[in-house]
Amino acid sequence: MNKPTLIANWKATKTIKETVEWVKTAKADLEQIDYTEIIVCPPFSSLPIASSLFKDTSIKVGAQDVSKFKKGAYTGEVTVEMLDGLVEYCIIGHSERRKYFGEVDDDVIEKAKNLLEYSITPILCVSNLDQLDSYLERGKVIIDSAEKIIFVYEPPGAISGGGDYKPDSPDVASEQSGKIEEKMGKKVTTLYGGSINPDNVVSFISKENINGGLIGQASTDPKTFFEIVSNIKPA
Ligand code: PGA
Repeated sequence: MNKPTLIANWKATKTIKETVEWVKTAKADLEQIDYTEIIVCPPFSSLPIASSLFKDTSIKVGAQDVSKFKKGAYTGEVTVEMLDGLVEYCIIGHSERRKYFGEVDDDVIEKAKNLLEYSITPILCVSNLDQLDSYLERGKVIIDSAEKIIFVYEPPGAISGGGDYKPDSPDVASEQSGKIEEKMGKKVTTLYGGSINPDNVVSFISKENINGGLIGQASTDPKTFFEIVSNIKPA
Protein backbone atom coordinates (compact mmCIF):
# COMPACT_ATOMS: atom_id res chain seq x y z
CA MET A 1 0.00 0.00 0.00
CA ASN A 2 1.43 3.36 -1.02
CA LYS A 3 1.88 6.14 1.50
CA PRO A 4 -1.01 8.60 1.53
CA THR A 5 -0.36 11.92 -0.21
CA LEU A 6 -1.24 15.28 1.35
CA ILE A 7 -1.27 18.31 -0.93
CA ALA A 8 -1.29 21.87 0.37
CA ASN A 9 -3.10 24.19 -2.07
CA TRP A 10 -2.46 27.73 -0.89
CA LYS A 11 -4.59 29.22 -3.69
CA ALA A 12 -4.19 33.01 -4.08
CA THR A 13 -2.58 33.57 -0.71
CA LYS A 14 1.00 34.29 0.41
CA THR A 15 3.57 36.79 -0.69
CA ILE A 16 7.17 35.66 -1.11
CA LYS A 17 7.86 36.83 2.44
CA GLU A 18 4.91 34.84 3.80
CA THR A 19 6.07 31.81 1.84
CA VAL A 20 9.46 31.99 3.52
CA GLU A 21 7.76 32.29 6.93
CA TRP A 22 5.52 29.25 6.24
CA VAL A 23 8.49 27.16 5.16
CA LYS A 24 10.59 28.29 8.14
CA THR A 25 7.80 27.30 10.53
CA ALA A 26 6.98 23.94 8.94
CA LYS A 27 10.09 22.61 7.23
CA ALA A 28 11.91 20.98 10.16
CA ASP A 29 8.76 19.17 11.30
CA LEU A 30 7.65 18.12 7.82
CA GLU A 31 11.09 16.80 6.97
CA GLN A 32 10.79 14.22 9.76
CA ILE A 33 7.64 12.71 8.30
CA ASP A 34 8.10 9.40 6.53
CA TYR A 35 4.55 8.04 6.52
CA THR A 36 3.06 10.42 3.96
CA GLU A 37 4.08 12.17 0.75
CA ILE A 38 3.78 15.95 1.04
CA ILE A 39 3.33 18.30 -1.90
CA VAL A 40 3.13 22.06 -1.34
CA CYS A 41 1.49 24.18 -4.08
CA PRO A 42 2.25 27.89 -3.64
CA PRO A 43 1.22 30.62 -6.10
CA PHE A 44 3.44 31.06 -9.19
CA SER A 45 5.33 34.01 -7.69
CA SER A 46 6.49 31.88 -4.76
CA LEU A 47 7.48 28.77 -6.73
CA PRO A 48 11.17 29.60 -7.17
CA ILE A 49 11.71 30.36 -3.48
CA ALA A 50 9.64 27.39 -2.31
CA SER A 51 11.47 25.02 -4.67
CA SER A 52 14.81 26.30 -3.48
CA LEU A 53 13.88 26.10 0.24
CA PHE A 54 12.55 22.52 -0.11
CA LYS A 55 15.46 21.37 -2.29
CA ASP A 56 17.08 18.23 -0.90
CA THR A 57 14.08 17.44 1.30
CA SER A 58 11.34 14.89 0.76
CA ILE A 59 8.79 17.69 0.40
CA LYS A 60 7.73 18.25 -3.19
CA VAL A 61 6.55 21.45 -4.81
CA GLY A 62 3.66 21.81 -7.26
CA ALA A 63 2.07 24.61 -9.26
CA GLN A 64 -1.63 25.44 -9.02
CA ASP A 65 -2.18 25.71 -12.77
CA VAL A 66 -0.43 25.78 -16.14
CA SER A 67 -1.25 27.32 -19.49
CA LYS A 68 -2.99 25.24 -22.13
CA PHE A 69 -0.71 27.02 -24.62
CA LYS A 70 2.87 25.94 -25.20
CA LYS A 71 4.44 29.35 -25.94
CA GLY A 72 3.72 32.64 -27.62
CA ALA A 73 1.56 35.73 -27.50
CA TYR A 74 -0.60 34.78 -24.51
CA THR A 75 -0.18 37.62 -22.04
CA GLY A 76 -0.15 36.52 -18.44
CA GLU A 77 0.24 32.81 -19.09
CA VAL A 78 2.73 30.50 -17.38
CA THR A 79 3.63 27.63 -19.70
CA VAL A 80 4.79 24.12 -18.94
CA GLU A 81 8.26 24.94 -20.25
CA MET A 82 8.51 27.63 -17.57
CA LEU A 83 7.55 25.12 -14.87
CA ASP A 84 9.98 22.49 -16.13
CA GLY A 85 12.67 21.98 -13.50
CA LEU A 86 10.78 24.05 -10.95
CA VAL A 87 7.98 21.66 -9.97
CA GLU A 88 7.20 17.97 -10.15
CA TYR A 89 3.43 18.38 -9.83
CA CYS A 90 0.70 20.71 -11.05
CA ILE A 91 -2.98 21.04 -10.13
CA ILE A 92 -5.31 21.25 -13.13
CA GLY A 93 -9.07 21.47 -13.56
CA HIS A 94 -9.77 22.99 -10.17
CA SER A 95 -13.42 24.08 -9.95
CA GLU A 96 -12.33 27.61 -8.99
CA ARG A 97 -10.60 27.88 -12.38
CA ARG A 98 -13.90 26.97 -14.01
CA LYS A 99 -16.01 29.22 -11.81
CA TYR A 100 -13.92 32.38 -11.94
CA PHE A 101 -11.90 32.02 -15.16
CA GLY A 102 -14.23 30.17 -17.50
CA GLU A 103 -12.02 27.14 -17.91
CA VAL A 104 -13.63 24.20 -19.73
CA ASP A 105 -12.88 20.50 -20.07
CA ASP A 106 -11.00 20.91 -23.38
CA ASP A 107 -8.62 23.32 -21.66
CA VAL A 108 -7.95 20.81 -18.90
CA ILE A 109 -7.13 18.09 -21.44
CA GLU A 110 -4.61 20.36 -23.18
CA LYS A 111 -3.03 21.17 -19.82
CA ALA A 112 -2.78 17.47 -18.95
CA LYS A 113 -1.07 16.75 -22.27
CA ASN A 114 1.44 19.57 -21.76
CA LEU A 115 2.33 18.39 -18.25
CA LEU A 116 2.66 14.74 -19.21
CA GLU A 117 4.96 15.67 -22.09
CA TYR A 118 7.29 17.30 -19.53
CA SER A 119 6.88 14.52 -16.96
CA ILE A 120 5.18 16.84 -14.47
CA THR A 121 2.50 14.88 -12.63
CA PRO A 122 -0.99 16.33 -13.20
CA ILE A 123 -3.11 16.61 -10.04
CA LEU A 124 -6.44 16.38 -11.84
CA CYS A 125 -9.50 17.65 -9.98
CA VAL A 126 -12.73 15.81 -10.73
CA SER A 127 -15.91 17.52 -9.50
CA ASN A 128 -18.13 14.57 -10.36
CA LEU A 129 -18.24 11.46 -12.52
CA ASP A 130 -19.96 13.24 -15.44
CA GLN A 131 -16.98 15.52 -15.64
CA LEU A 132 -14.66 12.52 -15.74
CA ASP A 133 -16.76 11.05 -18.57
CA SER A 134 -16.42 14.33 -20.41
CA TYR A 135 -12.62 14.20 -20.05
CA LEU A 136 -12.61 10.65 -21.36
CA GLU A 137 -14.77 11.59 -24.35
CA ARG A 138 -12.29 14.30 -25.24
CA GLY A 139 -9.40 11.97 -25.90
CA LYS A 140 -7.44 9.01 -24.67
CA VAL A 141 -4.78 10.88 -22.76
CA ILE A 142 -6.40 10.62 -19.33
CA ILE A 143 -7.06 6.91 -19.52
CA ASP A 144 -3.76 6.11 -21.26
CA SER A 145 -1.76 8.01 -18.64
CA ALA A 146 -3.99 7.29 -15.65
CA GLU A 147 -1.21 5.79 -13.55
CA LYS A 148 0.84 8.98 -14.03
CA ILE A 149 -2.00 11.20 -12.80
CA ILE A 150 -3.17 11.99 -9.26
CA PHE A 151 -6.96 12.16 -9.34
CA VAL A 152 -8.74 14.31 -6.76
CA TYR A 153 -12.43 13.85 -6.19
CA GLU A 154 -13.41 17.34 -5.12
CA PRO A 155 -17.11 18.25 -5.19
CA PRO A 156 -17.33 22.06 -5.54
CA GLY A 157 -19.93 22.30 -2.74
CA ALA A 158 -17.45 20.83 -0.27
CA ILE A 159 -14.75 23.45 -0.85
CA SER A 160 -14.44 25.81 2.06
CA GLY A 161 -14.09 29.05 0.03
CA GLY A 162 -16.23 31.47 2.00
CA GLY A 163 -15.59 29.82 5.35
CA ASP A 164 -18.74 27.77 4.83
CA TYR A 165 -17.54 24.28 5.77
CA LYS A 166 -19.57 21.49 4.15
CA PRO A 167 -17.23 18.54 3.71
CA ASP A 168 -18.58 15.63 1.72
CA SER A 169 -19.28 12.50 3.76
CA PRO A 170 -16.30 10.14 3.89
CA ASP A 171 -18.52 7.28 2.68
CA VAL A 172 -19.65 9.19 -0.42
CA ALA A 173 -16.11 10.37 -1.08
CA SER A 174 -14.85 6.79 -0.85
CA GLU A 175 -17.58 5.50 -3.16
CA GLN A 176 -16.94 8.21 -5.76
CA SER A 177 -13.17 7.68 -5.62
CA GLY A 178 -13.78 3.97 -6.16
CA LYS A 179 -15.85 4.79 -9.23
CA ILE A 180 -13.06 6.94 -10.64
CA GLU A 181 -10.76 3.94 -10.38
CA GLU A 182 -13.40 1.66 -11.92
CA LYS A 183 -13.72 3.98 -14.90
CA MET A 184 -9.96 4.02 -15.36
CA GLY A 185 -9.93 0.23 -15.25
CA LYS A 186 -6.64 0.12 -13.38
CA LYS A 187 -5.11 1.02 -10.03
CA VAL A 188 -4.89 4.81 -9.77
CA THR A 189 -4.20 7.32 -7.01
CA THR A 190 -7.37 9.09 -5.89
CA LEU A 191 -7.46 11.77 -3.20
CA TYR A 192 -10.34 13.65 -1.65
CA GLY A 193 -10.53 17.44 -1.44
CA GLY A 194 -12.94 19.80 0.29
CA SER A 195 -12.88 21.25 3.81
CA ILE A 196 -10.31 18.81 5.17
CA ASN A 197 -9.14 19.91 8.62
CA PRO A 198 -7.26 18.36 11.56
CA ASP A 199 -10.50 16.98 13.03
CA ASN A 200 -11.90 15.24 9.96
CA VAL A 201 -8.77 14.19 8.05
CA VAL A 202 -8.64 10.67 9.48
CA SER A 203 -12.29 10.02 8.66
CA PHE A 204 -11.45 10.53 4.97
CA ILE A 205 -7.96 9.08 4.72
CA SER A 206 -8.94 5.88 6.53
CA LYS A 207 -11.57 5.09 3.89
CA GLU A 208 -11.06 2.63 1.11
CA ASN A 209 -10.09 4.25 -2.23
CA ILE A 210 -8.97 7.53 -0.63
CA ASN A 211 -5.19 7.79 -0.87
CA GLY A 212 -4.80 11.24 0.65
CA GLY A 213 -6.16 14.76 0.49
CA LEU A 214 -6.00 18.12 -1.27
CA ILE A 215 -6.11 20.73 1.45
CA GLY A 216 -6.89 24.38 0.80
CA GLN A 217 -7.72 26.75 3.61
CA ALA A 218 -6.35 24.55 6.41
CA SER A 219 -2.96 24.34 4.67
CA THR A 220 -2.31 28.07 4.69
CA ASP A 221 -1.43 28.00 8.38
CA PRO A 222 1.71 25.86 8.78
CA LYS A 223 0.74 24.72 12.28
CA THR A 224 -2.70 23.57 11.19
CA PHE A 225 -1.21 21.79 8.19
CA PHE A 226 1.29 20.02 10.42
CA GLU A 227 -1.56 19.02 12.74
CA ILE A 228 -3.30 17.40 9.77
CA VAL A 229 -0.09 15.59 8.83
CA SER A 230 0.46 14.44 12.44
CA ASN A 231 -3.10 13.21 12.81
CA ILE A 232 -2.75 10.65 10.04
CA LYS A 233 0.35 9.07 11.61
CA PRO A 234 -0.18 5.30 11.56
CA ALA A 235 -0.65 3.75 15.02
P1 PGA B 1 -10.51 23.64 1.05
O1 PGA B 1 -10.03 23.66 -0.46
O2 PGA B 1 -9.67 22.65 1.80
O3 PGA B 1 -10.29 25.07 1.51
O4 PGA B 1 -11.95 23.27 1.03
C1 PGA B 1 -9.65 22.49 -1.11
C2 PGA B 1 -9.31 22.85 -2.53
O5 PGA B 1 -10.10 23.55 -3.16
O6 PGA B 1 -8.25 22.49 -3.04
